Amino acid sequence: MARYEICGGNPLQGSVTISGAKNAAVAILPAALLVKGKCRVENVPDISDVRILLDILADLGADIRYEAPGVVLLDCTNIVSTHPNPELVRKMRASYYLMGALLGRFHKANVALPGGCNFASRPIDQHIKGFAALGADVDENEDYVNLTPGPGGLQGNRISLDVVSVGATVNIMLAAVLLPGQTVIENAAKEPHIVDLANFLNTMGAHISGAGTDTVKIRGVESLQGGTYGIIPDQIEAGTYLAAVAAAGGNVLVRNVIPKHMECITSKLEEMGAKFINYDDAIRVQSDGRLQHTTVKTRPYPGFPTDMQAQICVCMALAEGISRLTESVYETRFFGYCTELASMGADILINGKTAIVTGQKQLKGATVRAHDLRAGAALVIAGLVAEGTTRVENIHFIERGYERLVEKLTALGADIRRIED
Ligand code: EPU
Repeated sequence: MARYEICGGNPLQGSVTISGAKNAAVAILPAALLVKGKCRVENVPDISDVRILLDILADLGADIRYEAPGVVLLDCTNIVSTHPNPELVRKMRASYYLMGALLGRFHKANVALPGGCNFASRPIDQHIKGFAALGADVDENEDYVNLTPGPGGLQGNRISLDVVSVGATVNIMLAAVLLPGQTVIENAAKEPHIVDLANFLNTMGAHISGAGTDTVKIRGVESLQGGTYGIIPDQIEAGTYLAAVAAAGGNVLVRNVIPKHMECITSKLEEMGAKFINYDDAIRVQSDGRLQHTTVKTRPYPGFPTDMQAQICVCMALAEGISRLTESVYETRFFGYCTELASMGADILINGKTAIVTGQKQLKGATVRAHDLRAGAALVIAGLVAEGTTRVENIHFIERGYERLVEKLTALGADIRRIED
């Protein structure tokens, strides 16, 4: 088991380069299953979720090579299996995108239910509703989803999602791209990675319009051909560094970001006292570490992301006054980290969907456990600020989604080490 040891108190200075977006990569790599030909994907983050996904695709028969760090060549032309290795599938959440991609390519799929971060009940009923609307027969039990063509075969259809779901929007897009007819997804998610997936698929020859709005239209095409595509920068990784500088103080140029994607995060951190300068593809963040209380409610994009809830909670835990943080996507997400932060001296009262956070002058180092990816990132930020030494255990969660975290933070002046027992 590995852990991070952090000696808090150093301000962060210098520059950090953000990696490709995890949640775009985990949609785009399975999308390569739909392509006959070579896909060259740039800006692929080197994180464990991506490594597992590439292992799954290789195990299915894909030819996968790294041309250079972050540049993956994938050729899924010769794949015949529709049954990805269940042990690998259960290691991560986004492996459920194999359902849509395999259904789209082969009109059938037999995929184990995913594992991954379990900070809440994470149903996939909307994914299933989408597959059924496209004409699939769905046989689901507690371990597997088995998709086969229904009596009328598979074809495009209109699907109105009952909840705005990133995963269901992606999965339906993947399933529909090669089907005859038009698919319309209403109440679709609008996250940047939905747009990125559409751009990838369109680069390979798909006809998708409306991605980034709540209505996505997919006109089925007969085939997709290979090409080159670069994944967008990771909004949440960037947001995590911005929150870290806001809390720890310092002056950092965060490179390789799309400032528009960051507005929902920077506007809140600005209210709390951090200062930002936007460039074309970078943001400078400055903070003296003295923050003011604020109110945040998480919402689907373009709202404040649930994946930044834990990180801004650390900022609130150190801000002057009483902040309110309301979660509207995953109600139980607070439980992954608030007790751990409390052991570092944070004062957080959870009242249903809202955490009431009374800011403290200082947090103190402690031994804490990451319970999921973003909860773990928040504990690292808390460790950077806290007095004394913080040990963050269970860091495999953090390494699912943050590339070279220790290296990047060390370059900014943080005192953080990865210790392998
Ligand atoms: N929901 C349903 N039924 C469904 C699907 C979702 O009720 O069939 C509900 C969920 O329970 C939740 C809401 O809809 O309350 C939104 O869930 P969504 O489907 O959008 O989440 P997801 O696709 O499983 C993605 C990200 C998460 C991120 C959420 C919300 C990926 C691989 N994962 O999950 O990212 O928290 O969207 O933005 O894109 C992370 O990166 O740490 C992470 C957990």
